[in-house]
Amino acid sequence: MKTKSTHVRATLYFFFFFFFFFFFLCNIHVQAQPSTIGYTCTANQSAYPCQTYVFYRPAAPDFLDLASIGDLFSVSRLMISNPSNISSPASPLIPDQSLFVPITCSCNTVNSSITISYAALPYTIKSGNTFYIVSTQFFQNLTTYQSVEVVNPTFEPTRLNIGDVITFPIFCKCPNVTQVQNGVNYLVSYVFQPSDNVSSIASRFGATTQSITDVNGNNIQTFDTIFVPVSRLPNLTQPVPPPLVVGETEKKGAIIGLGVGLGVCAVSLVLVLGGWYRERRMIKKNGGKSYGDEEKLGVGGRSGIGLKMGEDVNLMADVSGCLDKYRVFGIDELREATNGFDEKSMIQGSVYKGIIDGEVYAIKKMKWNAYDELKILQKVNHGNLVKLEGFCIEPEEANCYLVYEYVENGSLYSWLHQRKNDKLSWKTRLRIAIDVANGLQYIHEHTRPKVVHKDIKSSNILLDSNMRAKIANFGLAKSGCNAITMHIVGTQGYIAQEYLTDGVVSTKMDVFSYGVVLLELISGREAIDEEGRVLWASVNGILDGKEERKLMRLRGWMEDGLVDESSSMESVMGALVVAVACLNRDPARRPGMVEIVYALSKSDDLVFDISEDGFSPRQVMAR
Ligand SMILES: *[C@@H]1O[C@H](CO)[C@@H](O)[C@H](O)[C@H]1NC(C)=O
Ligand SMILES: *[C@@H]1O[C@H](CO)[C@@H](O)[C@H](O)[C@H]1NC(C)=O
Ligand SMILES: *[C@@H]1O[C@H](CO)[C@@H](O)[C@H](O)[C@H]1NC(C)=O
Repeated sequence: MKTKSTHVRATLYFFFFFFFFFFFLCNIHVQAQPSTIGYTCTANQSAYPCQTYVFYRPAAPDFLDLASIGDLFSVSRLMISNPSNISSPASPLIPDQSLFVPITCSCNTVNSSITISYAALPYTIKSGNTFYIVSTQFFQNLTTYQSVEVVNPTFEPTRLNIGDVITFPIFCKCPNVTQVQNGVNYLVSYVFQPSDNVSSIASRFGATTQSITDVNGNNIQTFDTIFVPVSRLPNLTQPVPPPLVVGETEKKGAIIGLGVGLGVCAVSLVLVLGGWYRERRMIKKNGGKSYGDEEKLGVGGRSGIGLKMGEDVNLMADVSGCLDKYRVFGIDELREATNGFDEKSMIQGSVYKGIIDGEVYAIKKMKWNAYDELKILQKVNHGNLVKLEGFCIEPEEANCYLVYEYVENGSLYSWLHQRKNDKLSWKTRLRIAIDVANGLQYIHEHTRPKVVHKDIKSSNILLDSNMRAKIANFGLAKSGCNAITMHIVGTQGYIAQEYLTDGVVSTKMDVFSYGVVLLELISGREAIDEEGRVLWASVNGILDGKEERKLMRLRGWMEDGLVDESSSMESVMGALVVAVACLNRDPARRPGMVEIVYALSKSDDLVFDISEDGFSPRQVMAR
């Protein structure tokens, strides 16, 4: 108890020191920041987006542990500790030790005259934050307030509210074709320090001074962000963390107390004193147990004091905590499991089958961009989605591996279009359709923000030993809806028109692709045939006219073997009606996954109105 209050007092003294120190800093340096709004890029350049790194220095008071730096950059602790050669991600950091933090760099058209490359990092404004403080202190000049203003035109810099989510554009560049040919894999974003010169940076990164000036020119100013071309990240030799004088959680508590207390220039003394009293009360209440107790709060590193002082809990804290729970595989382990990624172990593309400790896994090898998939997969957990078991990062080779549960029976595509002798019964097909609909319903309705898969197709649907379906391959998935994208991805024959023509991303584009999968299940035909005709166009007019005529047309259109099961004709028709509704040209008129699950589960009692104007493939064709 006694050491604790000494400790609290020390916290308070530190606070005074930093408060004045910061106040001072904030006031004298306002004019000095580099004034660039960012680095231009060419939007259609295939180099973007890319995975790259920023060089970051932990700094007092807020950013002295990997969890808070991870929160700032929306990555987990392991994603920083791995490339930075830190063996114990939970220990506090030393100010000015070197870190490599991964970011995804993209080329963004901000308005008609500005196209700049940056990693867009969301930051929630807290008390006392300004664009200037967050960019110069938290992001250490890896962006400028001018750039933040340009990227967030709807926010007035002088009228920020606590809780506003601002996009901070972290400066970055992706290597162009010439650079890649010369062996450059990354252009690491590095802020030029007062003590730096180009040759010291070159030797630190194992680059040449010439290669640095080629990229950045000769006129480098202090605190400019420069881009250091490297083929691989240099090894970092990390200092040994300071010995812990008090128990680890207590120490962490002190640092966090400091962090929250000081955070920023304009934090008011009253608030902190309030916090201090609460802290004392908490300590008393808990019988001396520190509030920094990680386990109890279940979030990585960040403590509950933020909450107690009325701040939002940073969502990313959850994410980092959660990601850290995955098993981290060693690259040697994966090599052994797959016989050195032998062709015989290949399932398809870059996915390998591997056996580790008697368990079978599917191992996907990726050239970066795995972080998006990781971030999404760790948020979702559902029986109809392929489960992520762990991952492995190999920074030297710029490789990332995702390790999934192994789904025994392979893809729906292979069952429908490749195995000619093993026909799936209509019952099985209907159940697969319902499983997939359930998985989609889950990602559309029960994740925040919503996840759009963007690449639903029969080859991304896997069947387990009981022929139950699981959705795989979240590689293209996006969080957040109704976004507009410039970079069209997806698979021909499954892509919704509005996405193809306008780049509109919404859950309804998954609904469209799902409709195509339903057509595959009913017809046994591929989404696009050899002549390049899309399957969805072939149902045009199939539901027109009288009941008998519809049934006749359906018999002619559906897969041959299925017709024999005469009793299920009604159910097949039900599924076709759902499919056609999913293919409506107007995304707003497509049903949601909830309705689809409902309709398929009781397909004799359909909820869709397919009266004249509701029916769409004709309209789709007209386009
Ligand atoms: C960022 O740049 C400003 C000057 O523009 C400087 O005062 C400040 O110390 C820099 N921040 C860091 C973390 O180096
Ligand atoms: C690639 O970037 C380098 C350095 O900025 C530049 O000199 C070169 O012209 C660029 N090459 C292409 C193909 O754009
Ligand atoms: C990692 O850091 C340790 C010291 O903490 C150092 O001895 C070792 O050489 C580093 N490893 C690499 C690959 O740089």
